[in-house]
Amino acid sequence: MKNIVILISGGGSNMAAIVRTAQRDGWAQRFDAKVVAVISNKASAAGLDFARAQGLAAEVVEHKAFATAPDPRAAFDAELAQTIDRHQPALVVLAGFMRILTPGFVARYAGRLVNIHPSLLPAFTGLNTYQRALDAGCRFAGATVHQVTAELDHGPILGQAVVPVLPGDTAQALAARVLTQEHLLYPRVVAELLQKM
Ligand code: GAR
Repeated sequence: MKNIVILISGGGSNMAAIVRTAQRDGWAQRFDAKVVAVISNKASAAGLDFARAQGLAAEVVEHKAFATAPDPRAAFDAELAQTIDRHQPALVVLAGFMRILTPGFVARYAGRLVNIHPSLLPAFTGLNTYQRALDAGCRFAGATVHQVTAELDHGPILGQAVVPVLPGDTAQALAARVLTQEHLLYPRVVAELLQKM
């Protein structure tokens, strides 16, 4: 069985879309794969409730707990990796996981670590992607699923979804339009990866 571990920080709507698609499309039978665990760096992440309700392992590794460590980022990533590895993942899926990962962590999961970013990469890496797309006068925006490499939001692109920017758009309106497409894009790309494994 190919185990999928999903990392979240908040609402977890992309995680929920993947879990629902896996159930609807029978990933267990088709790909011998299943989502086994959802891990958050915040105990307050709403997506944890969905995961629990689905009977998935829902775990928390609070990044704040490592604030006083000599190297907080490395200490957090080490604990996170231990928590992930207990589930023996074939694929680690970042779904709104708002932490910058250390090169060591990324190397550990090389080739089996993917992320979704709310822009048409390579444009608008980092934060505030919707407002920056509006400010730049973009006519189109979207989301990108990519392999994770040590450079933030820069790994090989696995799939993209495009939406129009409409007259009078606010960052909030654009974000909602992009998110709807993320929920279709991310499960599709994950399924493609599982098929190739
Ligand atoms: C999504 O829009 C995702 O693309 C973005 O956070 C949102 C999470 O929503 N990710 C990033 O900005 C990563 N840098 P969700 O928790 O409802 O899936």
